[in-house]
Amino acid sequence: MRIILLGPPGAGKGTISALLVERYGIVQLSSGDLLRAEVKKNSPTGKKAAEYMNRGALVPDEIIFDSMKARINESDCLKGFILDGFPRTVTQADSLKKMFMNMQVELDAVINLEAPEELLIRRLTSRRTCSNTGCQAIYNIFTKPPKKDNVCDICGSSLIQRDDEKEDVIKNRLKIFKETTGPLINYYSSDKKFFSVPCIDADTCMSEIINKINI
Ligand code: AP5
Repeated sequence: MRIILLGPPGAGKGTISALLVERYGIVQLSSGDLLRAEVKKNSPTGKKAAEYMNRGALVPDEIIFDSMKARINESDCLKGFILDGFPRTVTQADSLKKMFMNMQVELDAVINLEAPEELLIRRLTSRRTCSNTGCQAIYNIFTKPPKKDNVCDICGSSLIQRDDEKEDVIKNRLKIFKETTGPLINYYSSDKKFFSVPCIDADTCMSEIINKINI
């Protein structure tokens, strides 16, 4: 199964991806996680990406496309994958379409997660993420706190707040989403695999997705 998850920062892409991975046994490919791993390694790609990410801007299309293309071609993606945060621009969507045509594979669903802006800001300022790059479990100090303060329930690593979770950077990410990722909704909306779901409560949102995907 191949799924694209669209939605503004904080809509729940990471949260819903984790539930889809659990249910369908497919791989989550988060462009943001991929870039953060490069930043942590201090690789040339990571150094370049950090310049954009720290101010909430999108990294250049070619950087992210080359990284995602390489990842999609790895053997664990043969069973299927969720694209979380990719594509983010119409240029990326066009490149992905060509890539899928060459691979002779099709998408099963393009899911657009929706939530009101004040909720997005509240969620992102209160999110905590596991610092272990192999885990990266997502928590929320209000709605999904860890059992022990600042410690991941799953792997025991410390929890962190991301560098792009300051309120001014969040506001910039939301503005950029409207300008560059918003048009993607139009791009996919005529596709019969496309649907939108409100993501206010994660379990209700997941049930609606399962009903609509119908697999
Ligand atoms: P990325 O990491 O993709 O961040 P994002 O899209 O801004 O989204 P987030 O990960 O912040 O939010 P989310 O929707 O996954 O929400 P989550 O589930 O964690 O990108 C970061 C940066 O990388 C970008 O700014 C850009 O610079 C660069 N980048 C990435 N991809 C790129 C691309 N393709 N092209 C160019 N640049 C790219 O939820 C948030 C919080 O809310 C959590 O605490 C969670 O517990 C809570 N929550 C979520 N949903 C619910 C719910 N339904 N009910 C209750 N609580 C919920």
